[in-house]
Amino acid sequence: MIILAPSILAADVSLLREQVQLAEAAGADWFHLDVMDGHFVPNITFGPLMVEAMRKITRLPLDVHLMIENPDLYIRDFRAAGADSISVHLEAVTHLNRTVNLIKSVGAKAGVALNPATPVGFLEHLFDDLEIVLAMTVNPGFGGQRFIPNSLKKIERISELIKLSGRAIFLEVDGGVDNKTTAAVVKAGATVLVAGAAIFGANDIAGAVKKIKTLAQNAL
Ligand code: DX5
Ligand code: ZN
Repeated sequence: MIILAPSILAADVSLLREQVQLAEAAGADWFHLDVMDGHFVPNITFGPLMVEAMRKITRLPLDVHLMIENPDLYIRDFRAAGADSISVHLEAVTHLNRTVNLIKSVGAKAGVALNPATPVGFLEHLFDDLEIVLAMTVNPGFGGQRFIPNSLKKIERISELIKLSGRAIFLEVDGGVDNKTTAAVVKAGATVLVAGAAIFGANDIAGAVKKIKTLAQNAL
């Protein structure tokens, strides 16, 4: 089964409860929360308070994507606010093994995110510890960008490495996932799809969730 994680970056925050509940009722599996600090990426979004608010709105797992420098300083706060999984960017962390272990020690699933230009090989020595590999298929920082086509090869490569590891690691794909790209991404090996604009930018949020889930299942 493919997991669909709508990204609330594209939601209307003044209608958050309503929009999240529509997505949940239509079959969303997780919610994805994009945390940006204006340093690692050229945009600022929200911090643990948003995770806390989401925790009151939904029982679904909250998947927190930290696009921030010095994530170690905030991992405990995000977990306390209700994060179920926390991904940090490989490019933002010096001692990645330590950071991954910190995430696990607070009881969250540990993920590592890779920018489109970052080689997969950097993950080689982490496969024993990771629970999520988050492959960015746009340059992080904004919703509604175009999927970078050569990311498909990278997803395939990550999928092979996950198989070789023998561990059940989620392969999460983030950026430009929509009705046009879903099938290709699933065929390449994605197991978790993040979608922002394609879901919360749609007039019919429930219909958009059902459509992507159907396209994903049919591509398996
Ligand atoms: C981009 C974020 C994504 C974003 C995806 O920096 O990490 O999670 O919300 O948005 P769409 O689906 O609109 O490309
Ligand atoms: Zn994201």
